[in-house]
Amino acid sequence: MSDSDPVGLVTWLSKKLSDYDLAYLHLMRADFMGEQPLDVVTPAREHYKGHLIVNMGYSPQEAQHVVAEGIADAVAFGVPFIANPDLPRRIKEGAELNQADPKTFYTQAREGYNDYPFLEELAPV
Ligand SMILES: Cc1cc2nc3c(=O)[nH]c(=O)nc-3n(C[C@H](O)[C@H](O)[C@H](O)COP(=O)(O)O)c2cc1C
Repeated sequence: MSDSDPVGLVTWLSKKLSDYDLAYLHLMRADFMGEQPLDVVTPAREHYKGHLIVNMGYSPQEAQHVVAEGIADAVAFGVPFIANPDLPRRIKEGAELNQADPKTFYTQAREGYNDYPFLEELAPV
C-alpha cells in the first residue's frame, strides 16, 4: 500500500493510536514496490507512546542496531522466516541465512514452503 503523504499519515495515526491501550504498533518502513522511500519510523517513534515494532528488509545486524539504539522496541522478520525454518538459531549463532526465492511466493506446491534447508542439512556432522 502507498499513500500521498506517508509521513503525515504515520504522524497522525501514531498520535491517534497512542490514545488506545494497544499491545504494540507494527509498522512496515517501506513498501514492496519501492514507492515509499521516506522515513516513517522516526515520526512513529516520536509520536507513538507504546511499543513500536518495525519490519521490511531488516538484516539481523540492522535489527540489533535498531533495538540497541531505541529506534524501535523490536524488529519482525517475514521473508527471512520463509527461507529459514531455523531463523532464530541462525541469528543467535551468526550463521548465514538462506536467501528467499520470490518466484515461489504465493505458489501452490511444496517448493518454497517447506524445502529450505535447516543448518544441519547445510553442514552435516
Ligand atoms: C509471500 C508473502 C506473503 C505475505 N502475506 C502477508 C499477509 O497475508 N498479510 C500481511 O499483513 N503481510 C503479508 N506479507 C508481508 C510481511 O508480513 C512483511 O510485512 C513483509 O514481508 C516485510 O517484512 P520482511 O522484510 O521482514 O519480509 C507477506 C509477505 C510475503 C513475502
